[in-house]
Amino acid sequence: LEIFLSDYTPPAYLVDTVELVFKLHPTATRVISKIAFRPNPEAMDRTFYLHGEQLKLIWAKIDGKDAQAKVTDLGLTAQAPDAPFIFEAEVEISPQTNTALEGLYMSNGMYCTQCEAEGFRKITYYPDRPDVMGVFTVTIEGDEKVKLSNGNDLGGGKWHDPWPKPAYLFALVAGDLVNHPDTFTTMSGKEVELNIWVRKGDLNKCAFGMDALKRSMKWDEEVYGREYDLDLFNIVAVDDFNMGAMENKGLNIFNSSAVLASPETSTDANFERIEAIIAHEYFHNWTGNRITCRDWFQLCLKEGLTVYRDSQFTADERSPAVKRIEDVIALRARQFREDNGPLAHPVRPESFVEINNFYTATVYEKGAEVIGMLKTLIGDEDYYKGCDLYFTRHDGQACTIEDWLACFEEVTGRDLTQFKLWYSQAGTPRVGVKEAWKDGTYTLTFTQHTPPTPGQDTKDPKVIPIAVGLLNDAGEEVHATRICEVTDEVHAFRFTGLDAKPVPSINRGFSAPIILEQDQDNATRAFLLANDTDPFNKWEAGRALARDVMIRMVTEDATPDQAYLDALLAVARDDTLDPAFKALVFSTPSADDIAQALFDGGVTPDPTKIYHVTQTLRQSVAHAMQDTLPRIYAEMQVDGPFSPDAEAAGKRAWGNVALSLLTRLDGGAQARAQFESADNMTQQLSALGALLRAEVGEDASKAFYEQWKDDRLVIDKWFSMQVTYAKLAAAPATAKALTNHPDFDMTNPNRFRAVFGALAGNTAGFHSPDGSGYALLADWLIKLDAKNPQTAARMSTAFETWKRYDADRQGMMREALERMKAAPNLSGDLLEMVTRILNA
Ligand code: ARG
Ligand code: ZN
Repeated sequence: LEIFLSDYTPPAYLVDTVELVFKLHPTATRVISKIAFRPNPEAMDRTFYLHGEQLKLIWAKIDGKDAQAKVTDLGLTAQAPDAPFIFEAEVEISPQTNTALEGLYMSNGMYCTQCEAEGFRKITYYPDRPDVMGVFTVTIEGDEKVKLSNGNDLGGGKWHDPWPKPAYLFALVAGDLVNHPDTFTTMSGKEVELNIWVRKGDLNKCAFGMDALKRSMKWDEEVYGREYDLDLFNIVAVDDFNMGAMENKGLNIFNSSAVLASPETSTDANFERIEAIIAHEYFHNWTGNRITCRDWFQLCLKEGLTVYRDSQFTADERSPAVKRIEDVIALRARQFREDNGPLAHPVRPESFVEINNFYTATVYEKGAEVIGMLKTLIGDEDYYKGCDLYFTRHDGQACTIEDWLACFEEVTGRDLTQFKLWYSQAGTPRVGVKEAWKDGTYTLTFTQHTPPTPGQDTKDPKVIPIAVGLLNDAGEEVHATRICEVTDEVHAFRFTGLDAKPVPSINRGFSAPIILEQDQDNATRAFLLANDTDPFNKWEAGRALARDVMIRMVTEDATPDQAYLDALLAVARDDTLDPAFKALVFSTPSADDIAQALFDGGVTPDPTKIYHVTQTLRQSVAHAMQDTLPRIYAEMQVDGPFSPDAEAAGKRAWGNVALSLLTRLDGGAQARAQFESADNMTQQLSALGALLRAEVGEDASKAFYEQWKDDRLVIDKWFSMQVTYAKLAAAPATAKALTNHPDFDMTNPNRFRAVFGALAGNTAGFHSPDGSGYALLADWLIKLDAKNPQTAARMSTAFETWKRYDADRQGMMREALERMKAAPNLSGDLLEMVTRILNA
């Protein structure tokens, strides 16, 4: 059933208080509810309807009398008074058999919940929509040692959350858990008790997450003036979780991979991701919980803003330049790919079938880019003024994008109507630029065009903030960064008073999420890589150079460009550059990036050829760098106890770039030595990766398994490494073999993703010419769908690029999609996805 933003109507009844009693049992948990309803004066109709799925209703009463409820698969209706009343019910549910991991379920013997977006209706009958907010009191009965819910602990398994909240923020956890405790004193001097709850063996992996939490709490006070609002903040780690984590009020629940960290078992990338997710969920307390969404079409209101906030936090805690580059790499890999394929949708979608299918890179990451553009357009001061107004005006409310934008219109006096198109129009804008130089005046003329996306054939011009700086040919900045606000289809900007024709640096800091179509020769790119004062564009110039080199290697059988190799060597030798930045300059565009770039240029990509080009290029880089690599490697070794800070991580990243290049020259001697002596996972896993890529990693892989077979999160890495580094068309067979490994468990999303996420990410392997990658993934998505529709649907995005490829591959991908579509009892989740992908 497709639902539409334009059909929104206010709820018939509002909720004041909710009392829930849980009598826990693995297969027969009883949930007894007592809900105080009152008619909503703003509603037109008085239909009393409660959502409810997979519930066994025992009884239901209204004001103490049998409610005479009519029950369907989706909910319950009853005759309700046109005045305040009490609804009570008892239902039975089965957490143990709930493999969808939505509602109340069990993970490794522990009870836990995931209610966003619409999981609460699998717990009890309720108006499960975010604009209905109630004050919850929860009692948990059972033998479990630890029993947690939202808000403050009243003792004896009883919890009270004083803040009205929508049902999607409800949470319950019960099990044999231990805690890593700490405290935080807020800016007004309140002491908050903090805990991270884990299984016994994981207690040594909580310290970093706790530190990240305290830094997040401090940061939100300092930067946004936001203080925590309960006496207690709990985080729980669970092994089986569909997403990264969930911001339930006062009781955040985390995928264990997104919170547990130790130097021995976590890489630098893991530490950075954990810090960001802890911050993200904590920041939701204001952007999501205190101010929530009116309906799920407004999801970006909380997600785009909270992703933006967590990226600001990471930039402040680490390196802003490195964070921006990493975010843009990820944006292009996931969001641009989505925006340029059959699943393209606006940041605020206008219709959906299954809301879980819209927790996307577009809603999250493009949603965050939109906030960043708003801040660039109105300036920092007005941005924070607008945020303050939003927090005071809308505290306690369920809001819309219109409410959010109105705050900034009011603070700035600016009309944001055109800006709002970023929320309603899908697709990545293509921005062309032409330059002119005459009598000391330099003119940049921009053109903009957004290609059609499903359901949106034509697009209006958007307001695009393009940051531009100008350099002279000595590499000095002759015009500081200026924001060109492109508002028309063709829009020119003049720079006056220049002595000579400058070299432009355009879209600095990636100020707008666009595809910049710029005629730029490789000499200019090399010049900007060497000289640009904007660190993002310095990197971007190197990336454009690498992309061009790879494309010419694919399309013209060119050999690796000497200018590119020289430019890399210059970066490697520049001691003023941050090692983390150097590592990013040396990372080449992914096979998927090159495939998209080829397709955009009218060339059908051949994944096999892209694989060979990537290998040849890296081999050439290794040869060109031959004399320098041992010195870089030696200089980047970090002594002393492990620290996950940005500086040490940057040295390891650059050292491991050197290692992986060295491995192409020394047969793996250095990598083997590092693998054996490593005392942290970053060094161990980098060495293993280098060995596997060079096809000399079999022994190391066996040793790795033996060493870590009791650590689920490390074994996830072991599964994924083998598929990631499988050569050419080998990945499907490798993945298939791994599904027979005794440690493969399809019901654990992390393990399933370790194998099949890696398969989808291995471009040459997934697109293996015999179609075995497509067939294998389709087989397993059908199997997984029967147990866990959400994760199956999410992973079907592997097929979203099918229109890029040749007729044979398209035919085989279509066949795989049709086969899924026709599978008996397919979930609505997966059906919506394959249908949208097929209808491209
Ligand atoms: N709100 C969570 C976050 O952004 C994501 C949870 C979404 N879960 C889901 N099943 N759709 O961190
Ligand atoms: Zn979020």
